[in-house]
Amino acid sequence: MQLPDEAIVYHLPGLLVPAVEEWTPAAEMRAKHFLQPHKIKDLAARLMQVRSHIATERDVKNPPPEMAPIDAGFIDYPQRTLDQFRRQPEAGVLGRVMALAARLREQVDRVVILGIGGSYLGARTLFDALKSPYHNELPAKDRHGTPRIYFEGNNADNDALHDLFELLQLTCVDPELRDERWGVVVISKSGGTIETAAAYRAVRREFAEYYGSNSPLLTQLVVPITGATGKLRDLCLADKFRDEDILTIPDDVGGRYSVLTAVGLLPAAIMGLDVRALLLGATAMTRRFFDEPFERNPVLLFAAANYLMFSECAKPIRVLSIWSKKLEALGLWYDQLLAESLGKHCTGPTPLTAVQTRDLHSRGQQHQEGMRDKFINNLVVKAPKNPPIMIGMSDKNQDDLNQFNRKGLPDVMAAALKGTNQAYYEAARPTADIVLPTLSEHTMGQLLQMLMLATVVEGRLLGINPYGQPGVEAYKRLMKAALKG
Ligand code: PA5
Repeated sequence: MQLPDEAIVYHLPGLLVPAVEEWTPAAEMRAKHFLQPHKIKDLAARLMQVRSHIATERDVKNPPPEMAPIDAGFIDYPQRTLDQFRRQPEAGVLGRVMALAARLREQVDRVVILGIGGSYLGARTLFDALKSPYHNELPAKDRHGTPRIYFEGNNADNDALHDLFELLQLTCVDPELRDERWGVVVISKSGGTIETAAAYRAVRREFAEYYGSNSPLLTQLVVPITGATGKLRDLCLADKFRDEDILTIPDDVGGRYSVLTAVGLLPAAIMGLDVRALLLGATAMTRRFFDEPFERNPVLLFAAANYLMFSECAKPIRVLSIWSKKLEALGLWYDQLLAESLGKHCTGPTPLTAVQTRDLHSRGQQHQEGMRDKFINNLVVKAPKNPPIMIGMSDKNQDDLNQFNRKGLPDVMAAALKGTNQAYYEAARPTADIVLPTLSEHTMGQLLQMLMLATVVEGRLLGINPYGQPGVEAYKRLMKAALKG
């Protein structure tokens, strides 16, 4: 059951042409660059059709070639996983995820997570959003049994992997001690992505050097997450992993839609996050998507505003302006989701992540006065987790801050958001706000599901298949050829 104050809302007054406005040069610009409110209302009927279409797509098993692929499995996966957990707490996906996470937490103090794209960004998002940025530096007792986490295999960067191996060699000397042991989660749906595969090969070598070649610890301290078939699975079976040691990514869930499968859930559980709350948040959002009327439906409102800004107001650049440092990785995750889902047939919005207030000091000038090609979605977390850090009084007032002594950093952030939105409004730069009541597993589950569902809705509105990424195959093919040459 979702409490109203836990629910995400989407506000769009910053992009609507006011009903009545006296003529001024700025009002004229708003009439040109903002949306006439009737445009949103006019779209409602089409959105209802798209929603029904998406509901029926969930049951399509073998789509005709012109509709393929349809990877709609992500929509019901959170609910199915929770239902299965209620029926079979140990044997289902969630039970296995929890057991494997508990095993790793018990046995190692460091976990290296290998994966790229959809097999990386979701776990990274959850780590950054919900753990301390200094997690790895915290003393063991303050990490409450959760290992340090490292992400690799998301690049072919020699020195980055080298530096990780160096760290492991310097800090892990005795493989008998839990505090000096490290484990691995290797994630690749296809099982054939070269960045991840090459990193895993190097990590296996490092593993053999530390724990001994043919050590039975391999199948204990390494957890593979992969598709039902593929080279990674074959390699693991050759390494004597049992089927139950391998977590399977469902066929009908695409890589960038897989954060709420084992791909994101196992890393989250290792980090000590409440994976059930993540899934509950996602199911609450799915329910709202299918049940809520348009005016209160964050998925449909978000898809409608963004679709209209792109297709009717000539705003090809989609800025996700994030008002919490902890959500920068969410921005990168959304960059991938949008770019790979809708960047097809020479069209599709171009995503751009900005983190505020940091990037007001870099991109702010351009967003205020540069080309009128941007639509800005603010992503705002209403309540910080920790008590406010106050400006306070000081006997040295050379910085002139005593006048704000009763204000804290959350007030500075709120004032910056208000001021920036006002400045954009006055300059006829359209904005909208996604508001999260707080940062938690439940709100993150909602947010991830909301953005995935909205991307599918937008794709269907644009006539673009949001699933599949045929374009990335070209570079992969040529890269392999270059490597052979
Ligand atoms: O969305 C996608 O499918 C891709 O971005 C993949 O996640 C990415 O290419 C990694 O693929 P794999 O999990 O097969 O290694």
